[in-house]
Amino acid sequence: MSQSHKPAPLSARRSGPLKGSVRVPGDKSISHRSLIFGLLTRGTTEIEGLLEGEDVLATGRACTLLGAKVERIGTGSWRVSGTGVGALLQPRGVLDFGNAGTGSRLMMGVVAGHGIEAMFDGDESLRKRPMRRVLDPLVKMGAEVVDQAEGGRLPLTLRGTSDPIPLTYETPVPSAQVKSAVLLAAINSPGTTTVIEKEATRDHTEKMLKHFGADIAVEPHGTHGRKIVLTGRPELKPNKVVVPADPSSAAFPLVAALIVEGSGIVIEAVMDNPLRTGLVTTLLEMGADIEHLNRRTEGGEDVADLRVRFSNLKGVDVPAERAPSMIDEYPVLAVAASFATGTTWMRGLSELRVKESDRLAAVADGLKACGVACEIVGDDLIVHGKGGAAKGGGVVATHLDHRIAMSFLVMGLASVEPVSVDDGAMIATSFPDFVPLITMLGGEIAPS
Ligand code: S3P
Repeated sequence: MSQSHKPAPLSARRSGPLKGSVRVPGDKSISHRSLIFGLLTRGTTEIEGLLEGEDVLATGRACTLLGAKVERIGTGSWRVSGTGVGALLQPRGVLDFGNAGTGSRLMMGVVAGHGIEAMFDGDESLRKRPMRRVLDPLVKMGAEVVDQAEGGRLPLTLRGTSDPIPLTYETPVPSAQVKSAVLLAAINSPGTTTVIEKEATRDHTEKMLKHFGADIAVEPHGTHGRKIVLTGRPELKPNKVVVPADPSSAAFPLVAALIVEGSGIVIEAVMDNPLRTGLVTTLLEMGADIEHLNRRTEGGEDVADLRVRFSNLKGVDVPAERAPSMIDEYPVLAVAASFATGTTWMRGLSELRVKESDRLAAVADGLKACGVACEIVGDDLIVHGKGGAAKGGGVVATHLDHRIAMSFLVMGLASVEPVSVDDGAMIATSFPDFVPLITMLGGEIAPS
């Protein structure tokens, strides 16, 4: 079971212009997947630029328990010697994913497709998150939930099958984690599995399957969706993974530079995958001064350096269909909206309620604590910006959620009064160097 947690309150205050050039850590989604694909590939997979955050390290430990040798060669440089598909070991201990929804759900897919039994657990936040959305299709493929906490939650024990049934599955919620769990179970299936999504979600699992030599076809489906067809039991071949910088982490210095007067920064080599760029699209509509420099491809993903300058933002309407491409960025977008002139209406945010915290409630409560007018109407969040600095002055409850902590610390860099968060310890799950990086740019964040 997860260890007890020691809160680390932090406070951010109005700072001078942010200046400089920075690189944010490797993408969390791709980092989890690179370790998992290393496990599923017989031979040695080399990874460069792995995010060494607690979430990803928990996935690494789970891979070890399932039979892989996971070695750190240098900063961000890792080597995984995998068992290959069909050859996972029965784990001797609990797979404890800490705070990580992605690691736990993707690994449920892996375990479901193998004839082993594993117990999954996590911290207080992960134990509250819904797992049925992943377990339902896995049970259809032949896995069995041997034991579970109320409502299909962690801790739970999953017994997989060595012959997962090929499935055609339409995901009921737009979730890359659900899609990926099905695809990962289907890798060991003696047939063809099809996943249909009405709204396209991040496609890192599909890209990585292709990168490791699987037979996978992806085509458009309806107006915004995709259909993915995977042939089971491929011979996955080791292939080097270069992890690009995480756009969801870049979002924090990006919004900070937009709201701290006089700022001008460059964030280097940020992944520009179109299924992850909803925040930048929205900020550009709000009038943000963001330039894409030096567009190129690194490790199979489009990347660009982002030059960001302080901007006078205006409120906009953010359509519901954009949500999957910026699902983790709404908290920091809400902060940007607090500094904009006029109302920003963010539509269709039901999925925000089941993240590391109920982010819809946590954001609205945090904004109110900092003197920003906002409302939740149905699944929409509406923020009324007055133009210029938000009041600030609040102590924001973060509910074990790293993105709530970072978002409100960003607010504090530009608000009239400092903003405190009750706990910044969870920042280490995705962005361990967040505070030093913001400090290097000229931002003032300190323990409170
Ligand atoms: C992720 C998918 C998203 C996102 C999470 C990472 C992934 O979750 O919120 O941080 O790596 O697949 P959902 O797919 O459940 O929306």
